[in-house]
Amino acid sequence: MSELANQLSELRGRFDAAVADAPDADTLEAVRVAFLGRSGEVTLLRRGIGQLPAAQRPAAGKTINAAVEVLEAQLLEAERRLATGNFDAELAKRIDVTFPAIAPLRGSIHPIRRVMDDICAYFERHGFAVVLGPEIEPDYYNFDALNIPPDHPARDGFDSFFLTDHLLLRPHTSPMQIRTMQQHKPPVAVVTPGKCYRRDAVDARHLYQFHQCEGLLVAQGIHFGHLKGMLTGMCRELFGPDQQVRFRPSYFPFTEPSAEVDTTCPVCHGLGGTCRMCGGSGWIELGGAGMVHPNVLSEMKYDAGAVSGWAFGFGLERLAIVRYDVDDIRRFVENEPDFLQQLA
Ligand code: PHE
Repeated sequence: MSELANQLSELRGRFDAAVADAPDADTLEAVRVAFLGRSGEVTLLRRGIGQLPAAQRPAAGKTINAAVEVLEAQLLEAERRLATGNFDAELAKRIDVTFPAIAPLRGSIHPIRRVMDDICAYFERHGFAVVLGPEIEPDYYNFDALNIPPDHPARDGFDSFFLTDHLLLRPHTSPMQIRTMQQHKPPVAVVTPGKCYRRDAVDARHLYQFHQCEGLLVAQGIHFGHLKGMLTGMCRELFGPDQQVRFRPSYFPFTEPSAEVDTTCPVCHGLGGTCRMCGGSGWIELGGAGMVHPNVLSEMKYDAGAVSGWAFGFGLERLAIVRYDVDDIRRFVENEPDFLQQLA
């Protein structure tokens, strides 16, 4: 027998013994490294090929390769044997059926959904209908009919995702004012919650997808006082019995007069000071509102001389942040069970 064959046969003897003795996968791995690893014994033998006369090298290479195949097959076989052994040992253990089970995670209503449900419930109790609308809108519903003609600068303010020249992901729920008035003669009283989209960079206060709830009431003799009364009632329901609502003059093309709506900060109860939630102002902004613009009523063939109405649009994430004292709007979409359980 050649020198190489002798060496291999001696090596296999030790390899067989080591594999047979290995009690677990880790030891088996150590055996593999010692024999077949990068600086293992077989590799050293392979390096020796270089010293042989050129004519003998190919045969020597083949002999080593053949041996390696056999060793690897043995390792695989041993691995399988160990794995089955473990399984059998597990099966043999006694199963204690009286041991307490791991409680499954219970699902809960998402905080945004809860705010949405509560707002809808409040308005339904006051005779409003809840209606849902499409998230993809033609620009007519989103802009033109809302008194925002093609070249109006307010279009830019909505930072919309356009799908085609005339279709966009709605940046607010106000198109539902139009859809409602198109389908119904006054009086109309609806709230319409739903998803909205804007090209906003994501941070602690912004997501590119968020929720709004729109409200619309048009009938004879509706005035700003009705708006204030309904919104005050809504805030008391959501945040507690002492809530106040205030209106700051603002501008929306589809309402006149228009306002930004604030409610007393439910964390500091309007005291301000060093309150982190309201930044010390004592007020939290809810969204926009106003009296429906006569141009919008006329576009809907409503008699602007005979009926009047108000509308509002509030961000639901905003309301949820305040209601549940959440520090970052992104938590609402991260789907963290810990977070959701806490608010459940
Ligand atoms: N649609 C407005 C916005 O998203 C809010 C709004 C709704 C204002 C209804 C007035 C009336 O900013």
